[in-house]
Amino acid sequence: MTKHIILDTDPGIDDSLAILLALASPEIVLDGISTIHGNASTERVTTNALSILELAKASHVPVYKGCDLPLVQPSLLSPETHGDSGLGYAKLSAPLGQAQAQHGSDFLIDQIMSKPGEITLVAIGPLTNVAMAIRKEPRIVQNVKEVFIMGGAIRHQGNTTALAEYNTYVDPHAAHIVFHSGMPMILTPLDVTYQCIFTTDDLNRLLKINSPITKFIADATRFYMEFHDEYQKIDGCVINDPMTLALTFMPEICDYQDLYVDVDISTGVGLGNTFADFYNYEKKAPNMKLALGVRPRMFMELFLERMEKLAKANS
Ligand code: BDR
Ligand code: CA
Repeated sequence: MTKHIILDTDPGIDDSLAILLALASPEIVLDGISTIHGNASTERVTTNALSILELAKASHVPVYKGCDLPLVQPSLLSPETHGDSGLGYAKLSAPLGQAQAQHGSDFLIDQIMSKPGEITLVAIGPLTNVAMAIRKEPRIVQNVKEVFIMGGAIRHQGNTTALAEYNTYVDPHAAHIVFHSGMPMILTPLDVTYQCIFTTDDLNRLLKINSPITKFIADATRFYMEFHDEYQKIDGCVINDPMTLALTFMPEICDYQDLYVDVDISTGVGLGNTFADFYNYEKKAPNMKLALGVRPRMFMELFLERMEKLAKANS
């Protein structure tokens, strides 16, 4: 049975790859996209989402603009990682279509409440929209089918501070609300995403197909690879967000543990740090499934095959 997916996203280079993977995957239907501040401003990432959908001839997918700012913290965009536009060196045409009038967090509420038990939410940016939706309509907690979240660094070092991953660092208070909400959650932290590196060899394989899709992937990831090389000495780039999306229909890519996971919202050096109570010191029930093991090649093969298919369909 196909899954109904909503992507809450801040495209963003790896976010745009997640959108393309969703469009290329017959196991899922992308019911809509809500956008969120993060890699670039909400205005910008909304334009990017629309342009990417048009690039893949999927302008039927509606886009809803979400929150402009984190709940408490000041905004923190990431031009050094994703470029000023959010899409690296890629230059997409301005979209012909526009975002829907409804706010992104209200779209999440409407969809989840009108299709109880059917919506899979995939949140691959800061969690502000999701937290807002929970506060506005707490019944979404019982009515969402499942929530896949890209965020956190459990045993892995942070990618934004020494301790914190970007999405949880940018809006730790939103992450705190979501983690403690009782939603059925699956978390994909840097521990697993940093094993999934898109390399120049992978890119060259895709570039054998002459298509606007492969050109986009090349122009976007070239910037992302330069960032990874300069800041983290990684050869290639980490594609966190499509990996998280892939788990919705190929869960066997990862191994999971049911654990109690929390996020630091105190104002010290640990702000945004995520941690799991492996020894159950707190005597609290697990609040999520945490992906801790991964089969990187299984994901990369899936990703490359799907991008090839999408590129051939758009060549
Ligand atoms: C996350 O932060 C962003 O830079 C990426 O899009 C991803 O969602 C990785 O820490
Ligand atoms: Ca993202």
